[in-house]
Amino acid sequence: MCGIIGYVGGNPAVPRLINGLKKLEYRGYDSAGISFFTEVGVVTVKAEGRIANTEALLREKYPDAQSVCGLGHTRWATTGKPSDANAHPHRVGRVTLVHNGIIENYKTLKKECEAAGRVFRSQTDTEVIAALADIVYERRGDPVATLREVAARLEGSFAVTALFDDRENTVYGFRKDSPLIVAETGDGNYFASDYIAVKHLTDVYRFPAEGTVVEVTADGVRYYDREGEAAPPAPIRVTDVNRDDGKGAFPHFMLKEIFDVPDAIRNTCRDRVCEGRPAFDDETLQRLAAAGRIFIVACGTALNAGKLGKVYIEKFARIPVSCELASEFRYFPPLCGANDSFIFISQSGETADTVASMRMIKSQGLYTVALVNTPNSTIAREADGVLYTRAGTETAVASTKAYSAQSALLFLLALGLGMQKKTLTAETAAAFTKNLTKGVPAAIEKILADTEKIKAFSEKYCTAPSCFFLGRGPDFFLAEESSLKLKEISYIHCEAYAAGEIKHGTIALIEKDVPVIAIISGDKIRAKTISNAAEVKARDAKVLTVTDRLVPGEDETADDICVADCPCEELFHICAATFFQLFAYYTAVGRGRDVDKPRNLAKSVTVE
Ligand code: F6R
Repeated sequence: MCGIIGYVGGNPAVPRLINGLKKLEYRGYDSAGISFFTEVGVVTVKAEGRIANTEALLREKYPDAQSVCGLGHTRWATTGKPSDANAHPHRVGRVTLVHNGIIENYKTLKKECEAAGRVFRSQTDTEVIAALADIVYERRGDPVATLREVAARLEGSFAVTALFDDRENTVYGFRKDSPLIVAETGDGNYFASDYIAVKHLTDVYRFPAEGTVVEVTADGVRYYDREGEAAPPAPIRVTDVNRDDGKGAFPHFMLKEIFDVPDAIRNTCRDRVCEGRPAFDDETLQRLAAAGRIFIVACGTALNAGKLGKVYIEKFARIPVSCELASEFRYFPPLCGANDSFIFISQSGETADTVASMRMIKSQGLYTVALVNTPNSTIAREADGVLYTRAGTETAVASTKAYSAQSALLFLLALGLGMQKKTLTAETAAAFTKNLTKGVPAAIEKILADTEKIKAFSEKYCTAPSCFFLGRGPDFFLAEESSLKLKEISYIHCEAYAAGEIKHGTIALIEKDVPVIAIISGDKIRAKTISNAAEVKARDAKVLTVTDRLVPGEDETADDICVADCPCEELFHICAATFFQLFAYYTAVGRGRDVDKPRNLAKSVTVE
């Protein structure tokens, strides 16, 4: 998390640093700051809150800054609360630097630096890196040797860029387990934590190896490993980039992205359908079809899509699937064998726990498939096989169109696996493919055509401080995603429960007018979830049922029933997800929340 930008060139650095930070703001927006060389040395401007606060300070203090070299940072707070003092860059002695990641041994290092006379002004782990660098620099007098020694002392994950007072117009950088790229462009030379910050300038960048210190000046870029100056890492040419087309006339990116859902599904499936049937790259399909078990590993919303994927794959291809939280999986991996395959789902392709889980599995020689939305991301680059969702850039922090595209791609994959394993006939696969590629976008467009109804439901139901979602099987998996969406942007406390579980404890929380949203589809468990809805209704909960069809008599267990259009019951969840995306959106807008940038969150979670 957090965004890093560094610039050296023949042009004014300040607007370039600010522009870069704006492109990286999705990585964190608790504070921002930049440092740059001036005639009086390195100066720093930083402030808690959005980049606009830093810009205002810059206008006030340095309206005519002509610097051609500097670095900047947008922060998602880890060690130390969001504040001016904790904002990056941090400066100790002659060293000014910014950092992404977490330094796990910072307390020990801090004591050592204090003993050596360094004074700390922030609560961050980052300031410790600056202090240590200042101490080592005093002894070594060489930035490259200094940073190599500092990097060797740090435990944890880090990407760091640094300025040294007496090395004018030079930016240094190094990394471990956290991304940092270098781009030489016609506009100047850049460091960035993400290619997105420079994609308007170049389609080529380099990714320094761990253990390398990089020195960037206007004249060029030098890479130093333990032996001395080293050859630059191979250039990475970006051939495929998500288009970032702004939010148009929509008031928020989130609403625009919900309206993008039908196209996200169409574009994702277009690549993967041939003559009306699923068409996947042979090796990926064969390896997955041959698996004794498929593990799906992801975080948050991506894992919720994976849970629907489990339902589809088990139903159509009869392969057992386990869904695993990446943050748990990496430390407590379940027993798995050489015959198992692994799908890692990620919108960003950069989520730290998912990346680490994938690397762990790869290191055991097991087969990995990435299901990602961001071309050239770490997960896409490192997996053995890649399946892209084509949702386009997702800017709002809450994932919507990526979830829908992930679910659709998993559905199609399950059909492909079913055909491969002959558990599904080609005709049945073709019928489902048509429902997915034509029926689902059309059904979602119908949901999008009646946003007023959903807004009215949100106004009626989301009045209480907490809210419950109930469902069974895939309805429960959709309940989990809907609950996550509502809580993360509206800040209403929400819980999703497998409907049969509530009477084992949670029903104690049900009292008059507590909103309960029951999700009910298909026939198998219909009557069961209806009974659970009746149980909470009997305790005066306010019940909204969202279902695939109206069944006479079911209205007695709900205050309202809403039918979400869908071409068949297997595809209800992908369609109804859009209902709940809008439901969360309107609730958050009604509460005056910062919908696209909810508190405490960031779009890409690159720390554990
Ligand atoms: C919620 C949300 C998160 C992400 C999660 C994984 O709306 O967006 O739960 O789904 O952080 O992110 P990716 O998919 O980028 O790995």
